Order: sequence, then structure tokens, then C-alpha cells
Amino acid sequence: MGMSKNQGSTLQKRGQFTSSLGFILAAAGSAVGLGNLWKFPYIAGSSGGGVFLLFYLIFVCVLGLPILLTEMAIGRKTQISAVGAYKKLNKKWTFVGVLGVVCAFVILSYYSVIGGWVLKYIAGYATGGNFGADTKQYFDTFVSSPVEPVVWHLIFMLFCAVVVVGGVAKGIEKASKIMLPLLFLMIVVVAVRSATLPGGMEGLKFLFVPNFSALDSFEKVANAMVSAMGQVFFSLSLGMGITITYGSYLKRDTNLSKDAVVISGLDTVMALLSGIAIMPAVFAFGFKPQAGPGLIFATLPSVFSEMPLGGLFGLLFFILVFFAAATSAIALLEVVSAFLIDSFHWSRKKATILMSCLMGAIGAVASLSMGALSGVTIANMNIFDAMGYLTDKILMPLAALFMCIFVGHVWGIKPVVEEIELGSAGPFRLRWIFSMILKYIAPVLILVIFIMGLIPAK
Ligand code: TRP
Repeated sequence: MGMSKNQGSTLQKRGQFTSSLGFILAAAGSAVGLGNLWKFPYIAGSSGGGVFLLFYLIFVCVLGLPILLTEMAIGRKTQISAVGAYKKLNKKWTFVGVLGVVCAFVILSYYSVIGGWVLKYIAGYATGGNFGADTKQYFDTFVSSPVEPVVWHLIFMLFCAVVVVGGVAKGIEKASKIMLPLLFLMIVVVAVRSATLPGGMEGLKFLFVPNFSALDSFEKVANAMVSAMGQVFFSLSLGMGITITYGSYLKRDTNLSKDAVVISGLDTVMALLSGIAIMPAVFAFGFKPQAGPGLIFATLPSVFSEMPLGGLFGLLFFILVFFAAATSAIALLEVVSAFLIDSFHWSRKKATILMSCLMGAIGAVASLSMGALSGVTIANMNIFDAMGYLTDKILMPLAALFMCIFVGHVWGIKPVVEEIELGSAGPFRLRWIFSMILKYIAPVLILVIFIMGLIPAK
């Protein structure tokens, strides 16, 4: 509404979300992705099931939601994207924005590998959907082979690069507005099928009933907490400035706190549904919840084979997963490219092409670390796992920690609260608890869990 103006070095007219719904869908599009569909079930599976879920839900409320809200407020207040926002508020804190960019870079490098797996399964279903009698073995053979997964990963990365260079990301976003609700419906169907499989109840129990007696060592408690916190940051796309950027396109009269609740609610529901779709099947078919990154790829084909028109379902399902993954991957690439465009005045084309080549190469190594390079380990993890460790357990917690300290103790809670109150009907009723969280609870919690995560698991 006449508010578009030239900002910072981007010299682009700033558009605005015309409706709150538009913003919510865009933000949900970046938040809902492989983090919910692929990562949540396998991290829950390898980090203690119900206990992990308990920590996860607590952290969504005390860390995810307030931090998401703060990022939105920073964006709308400063009207520029992440790194610029920090620079504008306080030059010394620019590094927090940069930290987020580095994090986005590392995430996309391996995210694209999983995007490649999704493409492979789309192709698999499109050509008849024969995944053999042993779907786990099919996956293991595929993922450890030296060429095929790398090629699919590069195709996925190329797709993202083309979209970002071509400036057609908006088109993808539009498409995902239809795809996201479809994915939601589809995953409900799959969840029902999975949960009603003979033996499926065990899976629901595993996911929803915390088994505290399994927490017999400090290591296990630490692992559940650290993984849950990292997963909350990852799933809500926190610490990478993406919500700051989206927030900068928000109108002054949108109700920030309501939108933050809706976005984190949607994201959490999607993760839970994915867990309900996977875990019962894991138990019903005799897989192991601790199977790691391949969990959904090994499990889902077995579920689809138990459904009428399963082949068609599988095809459609993986296409929808692809769209969810693509919107997130494109947003990640935008984070990296926009930084180089803004800070070093690179052209969009140069920034995007160079970065996707670099991430393509690093992702290829990550992919090979599940096969040919599996012997190369960093702190007992293969390269792929080590990258996840670096982002989830080091970079994202640090970025969030610094943001809380910056807002709570340097910039001040007051401007954030004022910004939050702008579009809402009355005063921000949770102001007191919000500032306690940002100032003290979140920094201490993040720091403690961060340190727990550094204690080496044997
Ligand atoms: N939240 C995304 C997912 O669940 C992944 C992600 C993390 C992301 N950080 C991001 C996406 C930043 C876009 C921008 O798949």
C-alpha cells in the first residue's frame, strides 16, 4: 500500500504480501519440507520416540515460537533481509546473519541429496513401482551406489538453480499453495493406512508414549534433548533469516503473534502426521526405528504396496513431497544468493550458479559418504551425518542463541514488543513471559543443551 520503497543495496522495489494468508502459506512453504516428512520420523526413531516427542513439543513452545515471532518482528521493523537487518540494527552483530547464511549453505548441500532420493522414487513409481520384495535392501543398494544418487542430487540442485536464476520462484510458490493442502490430505490417508496395519499400534506407542525407563544414561537424555532442539530449529527454518526476510514483506497491520502460532502449528502437525505415517509401518514390517536417514524411503513403498492403487498413490505422494522439498530448497538457495547479491554486488546469475556448483560438489561428497566414502569419518560420523550435526547441533543453536542475546540484551525487547503489538487489537498479553524467555530462559536453555551436544557420544 504505497509502502514499497528502495531498500538497502538490493535496489529492488519491495513487494508486500497482500494478505495474511499469503504470508502464512509462503512461510509454511519454507518451513514444511523434508524436515517434517523425512527428517522428523528418522530423528524421532533414533532419539527415543516418545521422549524425543515430548522434548520436541516443549521446545516448539518455549524456543521455536518466540524465536519465530522475534524473527518476524525484526524483519517487519527493519524492512530488509537478514544480514542487512542485523547490519542496520547494530553493525557488530552482522556475524549472526552471516552465520545463518553459512548454515543455509551447508543444509542445502545435503538437503539436495535427499531431494535427489525423492526424484529417484518418483521415477521408480513412474516406471512401474517395483521396489523388490525387500524395500530396505532396495534403498540401501541405491544409496550406496557411486553414481546414481549423485546424479539425482545434481538434477535436484540444477532444478533449484534454474528456478532461482530464472526468477520464477514465485511460480513454484504458487504451485506449492495447491500442493501443500494436497500433501496434507494424502499424508492423512497414508497415516490411516499405516496406523491400521497389523502391529501398527506398537509404532504409535513408540512415538507417543514416552518410555522413561529407556533413559538410563545421561547420554540418552542428552541425545533426545539435543536432537529435539536441533530438529525444532531445522523444521521451523530458524536462525537463517528466512523469516526475517519474509517478515520484511509484511504489512504493518498483520497480527504477528497469531501468524507465528499458525505457522508453527502447521509445521508441527505435518511432522506429527509424517511420524504417524511412518512409525506404525516401521513396526508392522519389522524395520528398525533407528534405521537413520533412509527410514521413510525404505518404509513407504511397503505401505503403498499394502494399498489399493498403491503404485499411483506412491507416485502422487512422492511428487507432493518433491514440491514441499523444492519450496524449502529454493528458499535456502535464495538465502545464500541474496547474501552475495546484497553484500558483494554479484549478479543473481553469478551468485546462484557459483553457489549451486559448490553445493552440488559438497552434496556429492555427502552422498558418496553413504557408500564409497563411508570409511571417511569425522568424530565417528560419516560426512553426511557430520554435516547434519554441524547445522542442527552447532550452527543453528548458536545463531538462535546470539539472536536471543542480541534482542534481549543489546537491541532491547521493547522495539520487538512494540512491533508485535502494531497489528494486534490490544497489548501483547504474553509480554512478560516472552521477554523472560528471550532474555534468560532461551539463552540458558540453548547454551546448556548446546554444551550437552558437544559431549562426545561414544
Ligand atoms: N524447514 C525446512 C524443512 O523442514 C528446512 C529449512 C531449514 C529451511 N532452514 C531453512 C528452508 C531456511 C528454507 C529456509 O524442510
